[in-house]
Amino acid sequence: MLTLEDVFPPFALALSCGPVELRVLRDDDLPELVELVRGGVVDPDLPMPFLRAWHEEPYAPGAPSGFPTSSLAWWWTQRATFAPGEWRLALVVRRDGVLVGMQDLHGQDFVQTRRVVTGSWLGRTHHGRGTGTLMRQLAVGFAFDELDAVQCESGYVLGNGASAAVSRKVGYADNGRRRVVQHTLHGPVGVEEQTVLVTPDTLVRPDAPVTVVGADALRRFLGIDRGPADG
Ligand SMILES: CC(C)(COP(=O)(O)OP(=O)(O)OC[C@H]1O[C@@H](n2cnc3c(N)ncnc32)[C@H](O)[C@@H]1OP(=O)(O)O)[C@@H](O)C(=O)NCCC(=O)NCCS
Repeated sequence: MLTLEDVFPPFALALSCGPVELRVLRDDDLPELVELVRGGVVDPDLPMPFLRAWHEEPYAPGAPSGFPTSSLAWWWTQRATFAPGEWRLALVVRRDGVLVGMQDLHGQDFVQTRRVVTGSWLGRTHHGRGTGTLMRQLAVGFAFDELDAVQCESGYVLGNGASAAVSRKVGYADNGRRRVVQHTLHGPVGVEEQTVLVTPDTLVRPDAPVTVVGADALRRFLGIDRGPADG
């Protein structure tokens, strides 16, 4: 009998190091994820970090609009449109088994570009314990070691000191600034984003050993060919 992981290989992926584990979002994770967001995501002293203020929408489970309905559409769209030409891994982050945040990995024309873009967040009560650094190290190390990426890009709104610190600690270098639009609850605003780039030779890896499960099947699903040894 086939398993769900056989049918949709992203579900088989598991990246772990010490107390932190990353797996692709499943429907069973949603209640815990939604409650985490309700508890707050952003430090009020720091700028709004996202392109859309999804986390500030009215909390209204089961309602036709607001959070989580609008975010469900986004998460399920990622799954429904998953393809070698463009894919998004919405990785749920658990620390000691508790869902604490998400780490996204996005590839576009990846087989040709070998480049991924990341984004991440943690519930507020889980900030400041090193989890943000470790989850980024895990995602980027996986992209380099298992998917053969050569560049990982990220970006943060100027003033987001926590995100800047994580990027610095993980080995990213500044890669230019650009103006972007943030869709806040009060309408669109223009802000300055700092983009940052890390490569395999600058990545600062975690101190503890990393375990990766499910990479072969995912590579096949993404059309990433390592030659005959890849089966
Ligand atoms: C960015 C984020 C994921 C970091 O996660 P985290 O677990 O708190 O990160 P870590 O504990 O690994 O490291 C945080 C670092 O930021 C530093 N920091 C925190 N707030 C800071 C601030 N206001 N100014 C400067 N540095 C700050 C901490 O001192 C720490 O650095 P250190 O280890 O050198 O002391 C988390 O803050 C978050 O979810 N923020 C809201 C969403 C967000 O901004 N996402 C990123 C952009 S999409």
